[in-house]
Amino acid sequence: MISPQFIQDLLSRSDVVEVVGQHVELKKAGINHKGLCPFHSEKSPSFTVSATRQTFHCFGCGAHGNAIGFLMQHCAMPFPDAVADLAQRVGMTVPMDERSAQDRDRAAALKKQQATLSDVLAKAAQHYQKQLGKHPRSAAYLAKRGLSAEIIERFGLGYAPEGWRFLSTVFPEYDDPKLVDCGLVITPEPQEGQGATDASRNKRYDRFRDRILFPIRSVQGEVIGFGGRVIDAGEPKYLNSPETPVFSKGRELYGLHEARSAIRHKGHALVVEGYMDVVALAQSGWGNAVATLGTACTAEHVTKLFRFTDNIVFSFDGDSAGRRAAGRALEAALPFATDARSVRFLFLPPEHDPDSFVRDVGAEAFAQCIEQATPLSRHLIELAQESCDLASAEGRARFLVHAKPWWTALPEGALKRQLLSDLARQGGLAATDLHELWQLDHQRRAASPASRAGAPGSDSAAASGFKPSAPPRPANQRRAPPSSPADHVVRMLLLHSEWLEQLPPSDHDLIHHLPAPHGDIGAWLERQLAEHGPLPWAALEPALRAHASDEVVDKLVPRSAMEDELHFQDLRRVLDGLWVDKLSQEQTELAATAAQDPSVMARYKTLSLRLNHLKKSLHIVGEGKL
Ligand code: UTP
Ligand code: MN
Repeated sequence: MISPQFIQDLLSRSDVVEVVGQHVELKKAGINHKGLCPFHSEKSPSFTVSATRQTFHCFGCGAHGNAIGFLMQHCAMPFPDAVADLAQRVGMTVPMDERSAQDRDRAAALKKQQATLSDVLAKAAQHYQKQLGKHPRSAAYLAKRGLSAEIIERFGLGYAPEGWRFLSTVFPEYDDPKLVDCGLVITPEPQEGQGATDASRNKRYDRFRDRILFPIRSVQGEVIGFGGRVIDAGEPKYLNSPETPVFSKGRELYGLHEARSAIRHKGHALVVEGYMDVVALAQSGWGNAVATLGTACTAEHVTKLFRFTDNIVFSFDGDSAGRRAAGRALEAALPFATDARSVRFLFLPPEHDPDSFVRDVGAEAFAQCIEQATPLSRHLIELAQESCDLASAEGRARFLVHAKPWWTALPEGALKRQLLSDLARQGGLAATDLHELWQLDHQRRAASPASRAGAPGSDSAAASGFKPSAPPRPANQRRAPPSSPADHVVRMLLLHSEWLEQLPPSDHDLIHHLPAPHGDIGAWLERQLAEHGPLPWAALEPALRAHASDEVVDKLVPRSAMEDELHFQDLRRVLDGLWVDKLSQEQTELAATAAQDPSVMARYKTLSLRLNHLKKSLHIVGEGKL
């Protein structure tokens, strides 16, 4: 742990204007500096940096933080690296205890390993690229697919020749474990009775053989993996790099590095399903396309894209798999679909994917499809209607049951409210009735023992799908529903807004992603702080009442709460409780997926260690308090 005191000293000696100014062109505007936000695309500056507050804030996308946060978000540095970087600028030395020194060594080792693996992959990519010219069959295939030499070059397409050990001609050290680590070479399990090293040496072979290769690049442009397509027919059609220290399917988007400027230019990003779609679209003037890598679209994909643009258009193949994928994409995008953003869905005719569509029907027709893409709200309603007979009361009730979790996942805002009216109309209810119905469900759940106030980890019952519901109290006995951990966090921050600045960026992220209304209020509070600095509750309250409903405000900060004596440690404890919930849930999900995958196992173990650590510290602090 780096001590909070050191972080404060460091921040007080650094200048956020200077740090940001190295990456963003800033102009003085009053007491602040202004510029074009580096976290989303915009034409007029809504990004301000305040020298007095020592924070940056974007009124367009809500990006916010101090100098450390900027380095973490903009330069993708982990927290310790950002601290070290800043310390170096101002000539301070980061004090380290043993554990963090270990962490730092581990992080440095990982970084070095990643750089080495990327170098290996880049070298392989170069050689694969050269092979295209030497194997007419591969070049002919790409020509048959209609790809120009220019586009092949731009995406660095290549060919892995036939044979088991082509790479041994490129890497004389074919035994080097790096080749296995970066996923280019496969070592079979050693046979019984044979020494492990002998067996793997004799039998190792290239993963990609006789395939067209699409190098997958990180946003920064480093080669991190490959997708390999068979020439003509064969199984599997695509072979992808495995998960490695540099490559993770759930996080990367094919073509993002190449698409960055086109995304800015066109004002939106286009998400498609396949490698060929990205490449063919780029050739037809749609350089803003990216693809998920044979996986469903994840929240990480969505947040990554929202750093480059506020507008995403998902394009799915018109088949049933495409419709399923669209459902997953909807779920991934919902929590981030704020009023300032737009998410739309485009469905091509069942016989087409974007590649065949632009080739057979034309780029102009494709432009029209984009124009007419379905907005998120309509897509949500259409999905919820599936297999519901809206002519019957039962069908309409079922429709509302389908729609509810999606609607709930939306962030607070105008879109959410309008959608409630639309859903109510189609569901045959008055909007006020639907609101009351869903509100009631919500309160019942909040009143259930599963989410009792402040007990860290208590939401794990909800995470496992077990939600006991308490019978409603008679009206005359109804008390205010007990607070959830999220209520507590937001309450403490509203009463002590100065604490928000003491929290590391990971906690800010956690707070931002709390379900409505908490995440939204956390973001709102950050904006207030950016503009005015920490404020007493008496000053915040009227502003919050203008932003959120009285009902929400009264629940979050009831009169009685003002008498509580609170300490920063209390906030820390409840936040750690939320982390336990979040990480436990991730762990449960991991356990349910691919337990045999070594990278999944590694993540699982990391989570276990972190959870144990958190639980232990909670226990100790908890005992002290009780
Ligand atoms: P498609 O089958 O739609 O392929 O798979 P495509 O991209 O249109 O390719 P062509 O036009 O047939 O050459 C869509 C994506 O799903 C993943 C790949 O990422 C592919 O681009 N996929 C597909 C695999 O990972 N493995 C497979 O065997 C098939
Ligand atoms: Mn295709």
